[in-house]
Amino acid sequence: MTDGRSLHHQKSGKVSFAHVYDLRDPRGYFNTLGKFDYSIAGDGQRLFRMLLETRKNGTDDSPACVVDVCCSYGINAALLKHHVTLDDLYERYGSEELRTLSDEELAVADAEYYGSRRRENASRVVGVDVASNAVSYGLRAGLLDAGAAENLEDGDPSEALRREVSRADLMVVTGGVGYISGRTFGRLLDCCAGRPTPWVAAFALRWVRYEEISSALSGYGLVTESLGGHTFRQRRFVNDAEREYALTELAAMGIDPEGKESEGYYHANFYLSRPREQVLEKPVHELLEPVLEAGEPSDRDGCR
Ligand SMILES: C[S@@+](CC[C@H](N)C(=O)[O-])C[C@H]1O[C@@H](n2cnc3c(N)ncnc32)[C@H](O)[C@@H]1O
Repeated sequence: MTDGRSLHHQKSGKVSFAHVYDLRDPRGYFNTLGKFDYSIAGDGQRLFRMLLETRKNGTDDSPACVVDVCCSYGINAALLKHHVTLDDLYERYGSEELRTLSDEELAVADAEYYGSRRRENASRVVGVDVASNAVSYGLRAGLLDAGAAENLEDGDPSEALRREVSRADLMVVTGGVGYISGRTFGRLLDCCAGRPTPWVAAFALRWVRYEEISSALSGYGLVTESLGGHTFRQRRFVNDAEREYALTELAAMGIDPEGKESEGYYHANFYLSRPREQVLEKPVHELLEPVLEAGEPSDRDGCR
């Protein structure tokens, strides 16, 4: 089910990978997305870590609280909380050694694998996704500290989710903008009333308009900046139809695909939303310059 012909097309012209979003464990997800070099979560790892460091700097030593929206199997949690890279995860979930394990056996093996690679003062990660099997796996493997299979496009969060989200320092999204709108963010930020408003960090494909979300966030006092001049490869186009669709959308928006989508990859913009005074104090470029200069994701020194 992984070649371009057998994958289902959504109305947007983007191939749907929905068949691997809610499996009982993440092997199918990684083995399918890996074929198309899905890599945005690796960029998320280095940018989100830097944001957390800044956000927590000068505050108490308690672990930061991250809400991962569209968390899937807990991929961002794996990358934020542990000394692992996205390549490690592709290797692990594609390995012959794990191929024959049941999902329950894999969850036990994963709990051990991640447990032995946990970073000091790792963040607490709360996951939200509509895919209940995926969220359940993230919890069983110890990746997510709390998780909810809820669709906040359609309704308010449960009391349990509300409580977890109320402590958020940072909300993150990789690969999820397009599925969720300002409605989901509004419902999440409502949970934080009376506490410092969390920052919101999201990657969105270049042809997806983020204005509806940034305008919803502005209702909570958050000012959105995009990291202009930098784009991030999301994944390879599955086929020519995807490529043509993306190029047509970009042309309609007056965006030049040269050296980016023209090379065969979806590219995403990065958006960060914070209270105005923090934006004025240090714009997003300045804030993220050290990680952008450092280049490729690396966890080997364990210092980020
Ligand atoms: C491309 S995956 C991204 C997963 C993960 N963040 C990553 O980067 O690997 C998109 C995810 O969005 C989830 N999703 C779709 N609609 C959603 C909604 N309304 N609310 C929350 N999650 C949703 C899907 O179930 C899927 O797990």
